[in-house]
Amino acid sequence: MDNKKTALITGASSGIGQEIAKILDKKGYDLIITARRVDRLRKLKEKLNGNVTVIPCDLSDEKQCVNLYNKVKDMDIYLLINNAGFGAVGSFNEIPLEKELEMIKTNCIGLHILTKLFVKDFIKKDRGHILNVASSAGLMPGGPLMSTYYATKAYVVSLTSGIYQELKSIGSNVSISALCPGPVDTEFNQVANAKFSVQSISAKKCAKIALIGLAKRELIIVPTTYMKGCSVLAKIAPRKFMLRATQGIQSKKIK
Ligand SMILES: NC(=O)c1ccc[n+]([C@@H]2O[C@H](COP(=O)([O-])OP(=O)(O)OC[C@H]3O[C@@H](n4cnc5c(N)ncnc54)[C@H](OP(=O)(O)O)[C@@H]3O)[C@@H](O)[C@H]2O)c1
Repeated sequence: MDNKKTALITGASSGIGQEIAKILDKKGYDLIITARRVDRLRKLKEKLNGNVTVIPCDLSDEKQCVNLYNKVKDMDIYLLINNAGFGAVGSFNEIPLEKELEMIKTNCIGLHILTKLFVKDFIKKDRGHILNVASSAGLMPGGPLMSTYYATKAYVVSLTSGIYQELKSIGSNVSISALCPGPVDTEFNQVANAKFSVQSISAKKCAKIALIGLAKRELIIVPTTYMKGCSVLAKIAPRKFMLRATQGIQSKKIK
């Protein structure tokens, strides 16, 4: 990767995004950090040593996504970290539609808009990397009791994979990767109203592994051996078996 670099990180106000910001700051990146909670972003900026720009943005709003791009497009972004996202635990017929639409807009549409706008610029310059934060949920055939969240992450994995191959086929220097972690200790559960049913890793560890995978231009980055095993199983086991097994795990997440 280049020496002089600027990274845009969405969802930098907590969890994985915040830890990615800390690592990139240490590596000497200029940072543009975004989320809705500006107070959190300002506190993070105070802790960092490098050049940090704070831009508030609600990624569930298409116009704000485009405005964000317009504000930063001339800042020679080298790394785009599409990390913002959230989930909700519960049965499909009980989770409010508004919440699910907000999830689809944030996890899929917001990420899609930024990926589209930046990949065009990156291809023109033949320079740049994108990390789309999906989830191991996106590698499963479906996620009963978290159906919409799993579907949004399958979208991210599929979109990233298609673009990955397109970039390869034109011999581009631009790379795109999907981060697919299992449970990570962040504010995710609090937002999703869930508890973990399998062991979690720290956000710091997840961020570190993500950036190593990104530097290696890996298509799918799965941080733990356990989740790597689950993703292999998902490819070979019958779909209905995986759905039952996933439901068993998900049901333990309900508080
Ligand atoms: N934790 C896990 O177990 C886990 C596992 C696999 C994948 N992931 C994925 O990892 C990513 C980061 O989540 P996390 O675990 O670090 O959870 P987190 O601590 O809750 O952080 C989520 C971040 O997303 C931002 N965000 C949410 N909705 C937003 C919106 N409408 N507009 C702008 N920013 C928004 C939040 O900022 P504001 O609230 O300040 O806007 C926050 O900075 C998510 O995409 C999540 O799906 C998490």
